[in-house]
Amino acid sequence: MGEVDPAFIQAFEHRPTPTIIEADGIPILDLSPISSLDHLPKTHVISKDMANLIAEVGEASEKWGFFQVINHGVPLEKLEKLELLARKFFALPLEEKKKVTRNEANPLGYYDTEHTKNVRDWKEVFDFTVKDTTVMPISPEQLEAQLLVNQWPDYPPELREVAKEYAEEVEKLAFKLLELIALSLGLSADRLNDFFKDHASFIRLNHYPPCPAPQLALGVGRHKDGGALTILAQDGVGGLEVRRKSDGKWVRVKPTPGAFIINVGDIIQVWSNDKYESVEHRVMVNSQKDRVSIPFFFNPAHYVNVKPLEELLNEHNRAKFKEYNWGEFFANRKRSNFKKLNVENIQISHFRITE
Ligand code: OGA
Ligand code: NI
Repeated sequence: MGEVDPAFIQAFEHRPTPTIIEADGIPILDLSPISSLDHLPKTHVISKDMANLIAEVGEASEKWGFFQVINHGVPLEKLEKLELLARKFFALPLEEKKKVTRNEANPLGYYDTEHTKNVRDWKEVFDFTVKDTTVMPISPEQLEAQLLVNQWPDYPPELREVAKEYAEEVEKLAFKLLELIALSLGLSADRLNDFFKDHASFIRLNHYPPCPAPQLALGVGRHKDGGALTILAQDGVGGLEVRRKSDGKWVRVKPTPGAFIINVGDIIQVWSNDKYESVEHRVMVNSQKDRVSIPFFFNPAHYVNVKPLEELLNEHNRAKFKEYNWGEFFANRKRSNFKKLNVENIQISHFRITE
C-alpha cells in the first residue's frame, strides 16, 4: 500500500514528531518484595521493602501516571507463547480473521477499524474477556448488561487455552497492583477489591503493521484508558509514547525486556480525586517493523458507580467528580470507537464538578 487512506491521517498538531525523547524517567519498580504473596497484608506487618515499594508506586502514579514492573510473578513463557500465537493469528488472510469479527451485537473478537478521536488507528486487534462470564452493556441505546461471549478462531487452535493461562496470571498481578495502589493512598489494601468481584476486564492483542506514512498516522491516537489500571506487555520494537506531566511533551517508553508497563486509568483518577491522574498516551508506527502489544484492561464490574473515595475527602479536598456508572461509561466509549462520529467520545471531564 503506497497511499494511505485519508481516514488514517492525523490533524497536523497531532502528528508524531520526528525528534524522540526517550523516557528513562518512567520508574522501573521491582516487585520482589511481594512476588511470593497472593494478597498484601491489610496495613500492619508491612516490611521495610514493602513500605518502600508502596511509596514508589505512589510517587510514580502521582508524577507520571505510568510505571514499569519487573519480578512481577507472571511467567514469561506464558507471555511469549501468547505473543507467538497472536503473530500467527494476525498473519492469517483477512477473510479468515473476519470469521471472528466484532459487530454491533458482540464487541469482542477481531477488527481493524478502530477510531480514536475519530481518526482511524493503524492497527488490527483481537479482544477477549478475562472471565468466562463477563456482563456489560455495550451500547448507550441499550444499557441493560448482557453476557459477553468470546469468539475464538479455528487457527491457531491453542490460542484459547494459552490466552486463558496468561489471563489468569495477569489477573493475579492486577489485584496485587490494585492493593499496592490502595496502600499508597493510605487505604487498607483490600479497600478497592469488592469493585472487582465481577470484574469486566479484557485483554487486547494489538498488531501494528508497518506503515508507509508513519509521520502522518498513529497506531493508536492520543487517549486515556477509561478503566482502572492497564497492564501492558510490549515487544522489543517500541512506539508507545506518554505525555510527560511536568512539561506536556511526548516521551517514548523504551521497551524493557520482561517488564510490564502499568498505567493508572480514569477510574483511579476519580477514586483518588485527581491525586493519580490518568495520563494521555499514543502509539507511533514505523515503516519497517511489525509490532505486537498486549494490554490487559483491569475494569470493575459494570454496576460499580465511580466517585471520589469518601476517606480521601475533607474540607480542603472536596469531591472533584460527580458519580457515574462504569457500565454506562463503557457502553458510550464502545460506540464511539466503533465508528467515526462527529462528537467527542465520553471522558471523565464530563463529570468534573466545576465551581
Ligand atoms: C491501548 C494502548 C499501547 C500500546 O491499547 O489502549 O494504549 O503500546 N496501547 O499498544
Ligand atoms: Ni491506552
